[in-house]
Amino acid sequence: MTPHPAQPPVRRGSQRFAPGEGPLPDPAGSHHERRIRSFQPRRSRVTTSQAEAMLKRWPDWGLDIDGKRVLDLGEMFGGLPVVLEIGFGMGEATAQMAAADPGTGILAVDVHTPGQGNLLGLADRNGLTNVRVANGDAIILLREMLTTDALDGCRVYFPDPWPKARHHKRRLIQPEFLSLLATRMKPGAVLHCATDWEEYAEQMLEVLSAHPDFENTLADGGYAPRPDFRPLTRFEGQGLDKGHVVHDLLFRRK
Ligand SMILES: C[S@@+](CC[C@H](N)C(=O)[O-])C[C@H]1O[C@@H](n2cnc3c(N)ncnc32)[C@H](O)[C@@H]1O
Repeated sequence: MTPHPAQPPVRRGSQRFAPGEGPLPDPAGSHHERRIRSFQPRRSRVTTSQAEAMLKRWPDWGLDIDGKRVLDLGEMFGGLPVVLEIGFGMGEATAQMAAADPGTGILAVDVHTPGQGNLLGLADRNGLTNVRVANGDAIILLREMLTTDALDGCRVYFPDPWPKARHHKRRLIQPEFLSLLATRMKPGAVLHCATDWEEYAEQMLEVLSAHPDFENTLADGGYAPRPDFRPLTRFEGQGLDKGHVVHDLLFRRK
């Protein structure tokens, strides 16, 4: 019988990490397959430094969204209040916010492996012990792995705009998503969204304003001034370069 080959070393461009050493390619497996996803599955290259950060920090700071266990956020973050960030991209803004506010834990979720490695590297180099990196679909995380009232806040910065009309159903900010999210947020917790896509901003304002579980923190019911604590994100920079106008929305869980 041919012996089982040893796990190959992680190389640039490779996404093969041994279980426990890095994220799984499909952590929830097909039993949680959703027909409509808010993200585009893509094969992306991991740099050497991202892979090294992954190998070093994933066992302690990484988390596969497998949908099979309920998380104890109090234990994970040592009792800190916890904010969920959905779709952190490359994680630069996440790391800046974590550094600026060490008294808040950030549970950062994305499906993008290079970004996960990048954020773990930033957290490692800057001694940010208040960040955890979750790999997989935020919907499964919310639905299967978080308890009622687990979150002290939620951030969704520059979610994929899905500009074509036939793709609008893939947009994250929709009534069904908000109903699920609301159950995982403490009363009074704030959902902060930002987008540079004008028509998506209008949709966000419309569905959030109409949702029975959220209320606008702005008395006039409109967009919020950009809060000081939100750094410029990578996608925001790209949008600004194209002349897009950015809108922030701050809604409180009732
Ligand atoms: C347009 S990018 C914005 C990234 C970052 N926030 C920024 O502003 O630079 C949106 C990100 O959300 C992630 N994403 C979309 N839907 C997601 C989901 N359901 N669960 C986890 N991540 C998701 C995508 O993989 C992508 O990295």
